[in-house]
Amino acid sequence: MDVDKYSRQLFTETFVENPYPYYAQLRAGDPVYKTRFPDGQQGWLITGYEEAVEALKEPRFIKDFSKLYGGSMDGMSVFTQNMLFSDPPDHRRLRGLAQKAFTPRVIEGMKERIEEITDQLLDEMEQKKEINLIDDFAFPLPIIVICEILGVPSEDRDKFRIWSNSLIEGSSGEPGVSVYQHMNDFIRYLGEWFSRTRLETKDDLISKLIEAEEEGDRLTEKELYGLVTLLIIAGHETTVNLIGNTFLNLLKHPEQKELLRKKPELIGQAIEESLRFDGPVEFSTSRWAGENFQFAGKEISRGELVVVALNAANRDPDQFDDPEVFEISREKSPHLAFGTGIHHCLGAPLARLEGKIAIRRLLDRFPDLKLRIPESELKWRQGMIVRGVKEIPVMKRQS
Ligand code: HEM
Repeated sequence: MDVDKYSRQLFTETFVENPYPYYAQLRAGDPVYKTRFPDGQQGWLITGYEEAVEALKEPRFIKDFSKLYGGSMDGMSVFTQNMLFSDPPDHRRLRGLAQKAFTPRVIEGMKERIEEITDQLLDEMEQKKEINLIDDFAFPLPIIVICEILGVPSEDRDKFRIWSNSLIEGSSGEPGVSVYQHMNDFIRYLGEWFSRTRLETKDDLISKLIEAEEEGDRLTEKELYGLVTLLIIAGHETTVNLIGNTFLNLLKHPEQKELLRKKPELIGQAIEESLRFDGPVEFSTSRWAGENFQFAGKEISRGELVVVALNAANRDPDQFDDPEVFEISREKSPHLAFGTGIHHCLGAPLARLEGKIAIRRLLDRFPDLKLRIPESELKWRQGMIVRGVKEIPVMKRQS
């Protein structure tokens, strides 16, 4: 297939609004396709389900790109020295410490607190005339939760929100302020916060990680920065869009929304279906071929980039019956919204719980929310990582 034919369409406005027709064509034509990404890099884009699973589990596709090209991404190391950008054996060590805080049992213990935070946000929405479901609900919920897990003082949460947004969007969002300024502020904040925590440990994750660092030297200071940054970014930029996309999908499929209202016990399946149908993470993070080898019939050369289009794999008709249909009672759904293999999302139990509580309680409290603008005017976020809209302006009842 022609490298440029499809690459020209990647991340155009039409693609960002609805990438699924493009994925269907590509998957049928060549599920492991050599293309050029919008940043100019050439690489392989995987859209078939079977190939996606194979790629995500393939140890010859590595994450730590400095192994191939020498040097290090030192300037960015605060953001990359973490499990997501590491390979075994480092990966095991970096994931091991944090893992204990995110087991399904630990997360289940947070249910009441998440319900409380959700209800508080809904109470505040009750008072408002104009609601933007992203800013007023989907965004604050996961950031409050992850800040509480880590032990970020509540008065500093807004700063985290600004910094994290700036990192993921690659722009500060404020005239005259650069992303680097935000990064510097963020790093300085982390340093001061860690120093305070060393003097006074509490029962939060950051205290536990610092204790572990001091006892067994299992995480270096830089790795600690890397982990906290990853948890903050991964911990909310994604869940915001799980809540937003699920809400929009229910709105677009009123019969499914009605079914969920009649059978609230379907909430778990509804969240899984939303993850499959319109997942918050568009592409996996990048992997590189650590050596020359054959993959899915293709000759892959050492150093070549590989990216998995998770949302494309999740609509593969060879894996899912009627993949283009949003059906909350779908039973078996081994979707890849959380990835698979050793980098399978650490926060999946937390994201699922937050999604279930948020959508259930939102529908209970405001069953008749409607969009204030035509659906076609919703603005989708740009970028290769997250899939979600910038705002969801809604009204409580028809005026
Ligand atoms: C990894 C998706 C929420 C923490 C991943 C990966 C995906 C993903 C696809 C693997 C990326 C790859 O292999 O290239 C999601 C989605 C979420 C979500 C769709 C919400 C709906 C969270 C939350 C947290 C979290 C709430 C933490 C509080 C992580 C971490 C990793 C990860 C630490 C790296 C795991 C590793 O490299 O071993 N996530 N995530 N995620 N996620 Fe999530």
